Amino acid sequence: MTGAPAARPRAQRFLGTPATAPGPLGPEMLRELTAIRTDPLDYLVRAWRTHGDVVQFPIPRPPSYLVNEPESVWRVLVMTDRGYTKETIQYRSLSLVTGDGLLAVDTPGWRRQRPLVQPAFHHEGLGRIVEHVNGATARLTGEWAALPDGAVVDMDAAMMELALEVVGHALFGTDLSADASAITAATLSALDVVVARARVPLTPPSWLPTPGNRTLARSVATLDGAVRHMLSERARCPRDQPEDMLDMLIASRDDQGSRLTPAELRDQVVTFIVAGHETVASALTWAWALLAADERVQARLHEEADAVLGDRDPEFADYRRLPFARAVFDEVLRLYPPAWLITRKAVVPDTLAGHEIPAGALVILSPWLLHRHPAIWSDPEAFLPERFLAEDVPRRAFLPFGAGLRQCIGRDFAYVEGVLTLAALARRVSVSYPAGMGVPAVRPLVTVRPEGGLSLRVTAR
Ligand code: HEM
Repeated sequence: MTGAPAARPRAQRFLGTPATAPGPLGPEMLRELTAIRTDPLDYLVRAWRTHGDVVQFPIPRPPSYLVNEPESVWRVLVMTDRGYTKETIQYRSLSLVTGDGLLAVDTPGWRRQRPLVQPAFHHEGLGRIVEHVNGATARLTGEWAALPDGAVVDMDAAMMELALEVVGHALFGTDLSADASAITAATLSALDVVVARARVPLTPPSWLPTPGNRTLARSVATLDGAVRHMLSERARCPRDQPEDMLDMLIASRDDQGSRLTPAELRDQVVTFIVAGHETVASALTWAWALLAADERVQARLHEEADAVLGDRDPEFADYRRLPFARAVFDEVLRLYPPAWLITRKAVVPDTLAGHEIPAGALVILSPWLLHRHPAIWSDPEAFLPERFLAEDVPRRAFLPFGAGLRQCIGRDFAYVEGVLTLAALARRVSVSYPAGMGVPAVRPLVTVRPEGGLSLRVTAR
């Protein structure tokens, strides 16, 4: 597995950058370039297993490290406002779509925005998510009911659609105007271009009219127009009470009475779609993938859903009455953390697990690796939701939502949506693999996705 850094000879410097941790040599990494591009997650896993908890890659600018020593991962995340920033290529590319929304903006801009965005995630707003979950699960089970019992469906596509419906309704409420669908479609198409760009060795400059750049420019223009139109409609007919997250963002004021500007509102809307759609969908997809492979866990989930819900839809209060569904969701977030890669830039020199990290270095963290650390997790590859019912969950080494100041603002939203969706569907259907199929391979994109989708047999209970 992993363990102590492998003591192996290596060059002392790469183009003037001193080596301060073990890692692959230049020619070794060059030989792996195609593999890195095709499956970067697999490469990180191998680098960790070969070289240990702090790995330095032979890249001079910026000096680049993979860090998987649990206390160091925690340190980097909780120090994001002091020693580390989000000024990395990962967030620069994302900001082509999300602008300076809360996820990509660096900490000074973030400080102003976060108090203004926070009210959209308060308790009353979370309570409304259950309506959207019930609407989306009713639509889905209605579609399945029209198929022969035991039909095979693409559960990955189903969960992507469900999560988009939930976040769309949470953001825009009953405003199902052309603007709302234009905004989501344009956001997803712009995101596709950004993800595709990250996969090629040389990114063409954004002024070059390549097909990708043209799609990106078109999507961003559509997005901007639709958001502008929606905001002016809402300004024209203001509501007495906020009805959705966009209303809450528009109404929000900080202590000095300052509010989000139209440009900031646009960036938050896009950020919520980007950050709140595929992440939850990915977790739900892997939940069904693992449940279908494990009769015992699925039976226990059915038992809990039947006992708590009987034959009714979930209410918000049920969230607390479904500890096993929550443990299943947690165990899925451990094994298949949707945000599998988190990056930071060191702004001052630091020492991590005994290795010097120079100012300017890129630090790569991966919840996927951390959640499999054998010093922390027993039987790390096994799907054992019960571990989250125990008292002694190692919280500092369970970071699907990050940690510190920049921890996910949508964490409770994701839990309420994830747990209630699992229970609402588990009370109605059971899932199994068609003959000869099993848990799919992982495709690490923005989130971890199943290679080729997820075909499951869905049987009414
Ligand atoms: C299972 C679902 C989710 C996962 C695994 C997840 C994961 C994460 C992670 C790891 C971060 C921190 C990134 C970093 O430190 O670099 C983050 C931040 C963020 N997430 Fe989530 N997220 C989820 C759902 C959501 C939802 C539903 C929303 C909104 C509707 C959302 C909105 C955000 C925002 C706005 C940030 C930036 C917070 C800040 O910097 O203040 N996320 N998320």
